[in-house]
Amino acid sequence: MDVLEAIKTRRSIRRFRPHRIPQDVLEKIFDAVGDAPSAGNFQPWRIILVANKEKKEIIAKAAFDQFWIADAPLVLVFCSNAGNMKADFGKRTELYRTQSASAAIQNLMLAAHSFGIASCWIGDFAEPKIRKAFQIPDGTSIDAIIPLGYPAEKPKQKSRLEVTDYVFAEKWDEKGRYAVVPLHETLTALHERLKELGTQLKSKGRPSARKTK
Ligand SMILES: Cc1cc2nc3c(=O)[nH]c(=O)nc-3n(C[C@H](O)[C@H](O)[C@H](O)COP(=O)(O)O)c2cc1C
Repeated sequence: MDVLEAIKTRRSIRRFRPHRIPQDVLEKIFDAVGDAPSAGNFQPWRIILVANKEKKEIIAKAAFDQFWIADAPLVLVFCSNAGNMKADFGKRTELYRTQSASAAIQNLMLAAHSFGIASCWIGDFAEPKIRKAFQIPDGTSIDAIIPLGYPAEKPKQKSRLEVTDYVFAEKWDEKGRYAVVPLHETLTALHERLKELGTQLKSKGRPSARKTK
């Protein structure tokens, strides 16, 4: 599955088959987390794996009774710790930590999906309850709960904005229409290509001239 296909076919899944995810697949998924971009390459992500039934139920309850979470064979508590990012990034530390963690979560979900493993990003949970149950230190953020497992449902894609609703040309413009490559850039590229072909022809000699020899 290539990246675009993974992006296009991933869905949030809320019903799982009970089968365990093989260890080698999990390792590849977690390895993909580590490939995410992060501010200053600080790699702030930390992940707690939860397979114990009672603990999964604690998570589901703390997620305001989203009980289906406990049916996933594996539930991740996805955390991030800014560590000494503050020395480099000052006021932007929290933003950078969150953005880095989010990039890693997306890597995780897409990598999982490429192995047929479904997930759902859960953001609605009582943070203190999860912190206490899993002894997560103060100063470490709990970014998401992510149940993982083989899917037992195939939901349709939810509606999405049109590209033209969120991509603007040259300036902010809610009503604007964009062109992926503005016309002058297309013409410049075409011009360059023609020049390149001309140079190639000159250096090789004209094909018709060669034939007559
Ligand atoms: C930050 C964030 C928090 C979310 N929290 C929840 C949640 O608590 N429960 C849930 O069922 N889905 C949650 N979702 C999943 C969204 O509902 C889902 O991504 C969205 O409806 C689009 O559907 P799709 O992922 O299938 O494309 C969350 C997604 C994000 C990015």
